[in-house]
Amino acid sequence: MLNAKRVLLIVTGGIAAYKTPELVRQLKKAGASVSCVVTQAAQQFVTPLTLQSLSGDKVYSDLFSLTDEHEMGHIELSRQADIVIVAPATANMLAKMAQGLADDLAGTLLLATDKPVLVAPAMNVRMWEHAATRDNVAMLKKRAIVFIGPDEGEMACGEWGEGRMSEPEEIVAAIAAFLDAEAPLKGKRAIVTSGPTVEPIDPVRYIANRSSGKQGHAIAAALKDLGCAVILVSGPTHQPDPLGVQTVHVESARDMLAAVETAFPADIFIAAAAVADWRVDLQAPQKIKKSGGAALPEIKLVENPDILAAVSKPGPRRPALVVGFAAETETVIEHARAKLAKKGCDWICANDVSAERKAFGGDENTVHLITRAGIEDWPKQSKTAVARKLARRIADHFAAQTHVSGKTSA
Ligand code: CTP
Repeated sequence: MLNAKRVLLIVTGGIAAYKTPELVRQLKKAGASVSCVVTQAAQQFVTPLTLQSLSGDKVYSDLFSLTDEHEMGHIELSRQADIVIVAPATANMLAKMAQGLADDLAGTLLLATDKPVLVAPAMNVRMWEHAATRDNVAMLKKRAIVFIGPDEGEMACGEWGEGRMSEPEEIVAAIAAFLDAEAPLKGKRAIVTSGPTVEPIDPVRYIANRSSGKQGHAIAAALKDLGCAVILVSGPTHQPDPLGVQTVHVESARDMLAAVETAFPADIFIAAAAVADWRVDLQAPQKIKKSGGAALPEIKLVENPDILAAVSKPGPRRPALVVGFAAETETVIEHARAKLAKKGCDWICANDVSAERKAFGGDENTVHLITRAGIEDWPKQSKTAVARKLARRIADHFAAQTHVSGKTSA
């Protein structure tokens, strides 16, 4: 239900915190990985050790703990999550969130996160009904914070009314329903190529390029975040395999083509790899030795197969959407347009990889999306942001197609 989803659970200080070990257990049972952050007040109701034992991950609590910052910066903690849950969310926490206060680790994470935030409030009925809380809730809802509960019932203080934290199973179901709605590419399958390819000269030497794999890996992760089943075929990079993405490691262009063909069928193909255009014709079986300068070795190159062009060929196995990249150092748009036509793909992400742009190996990218309908100039942004925008654009494309075919058949 929550397979491979990364949940950041923020536990704040209310009596309902005693239910959070059960919540962690159920989240794990549903397939999620869980990291917990507990406020100082929450530790009065539930011990970090309990949450650590059940989550199997370190529990974070201190904004200024140098060890925590050393291991994982607080921004990173929220970035690595797919979703942030505040349970229980006290009236105090809702007020802090509404005001954007960042005076502890929980507040800071909630201010720093770019992920969806769901809250499960828990408080006394009078606190829930207080005008201050009503205003805070309204403000948070306006900012797309999703509320789970609270439920009506008997409270720990003996009163009856609205303010009980929803039961762990209801919270897990609400998270699953939210993520389902956030998964417009569910049921689709994508193959993404990433990184460089390396072409051997002899057993110890090779020809390669400067591709870091950052863009391709980020695209694979972004598609997966929208519910797509993704196979990433990657040349050698320093990027970690994205969580929840099946990653196949290859070396040469020919290996990459073979791995792509094995991964078929797919609805979406994205060629983000910087595939070597040439390989060494006759790879030396032994290390080539120096001959004292008398005769320098000559390397004869032959052309590699073009993976993007091969996948773009019309036929029953052609993915519905084939997207290429065009790494250009001059006249970017014209060259990219020519590439779209030559390779027969549907879209091209054109990017300027001239030395001054630092796109190769860098963290940012300036992309022009060229479709058959025209050009979209995207602003310079992080490769992660480019990846998310592309994944959304792909989801919108499929949604529009469903809409059109729905209309046609009606
Ligand atoms: N590509 C591929 N297989 C190759 C070469 C390139 O799949 N053998 C893909 C890349 O992954 C990218 C697109 O084709 O999506 C364009 O790559 P690029 O290096 O920009 O272009 P080339 O095909 O190498 O053309 P040129 O050398 O003219 O720039």
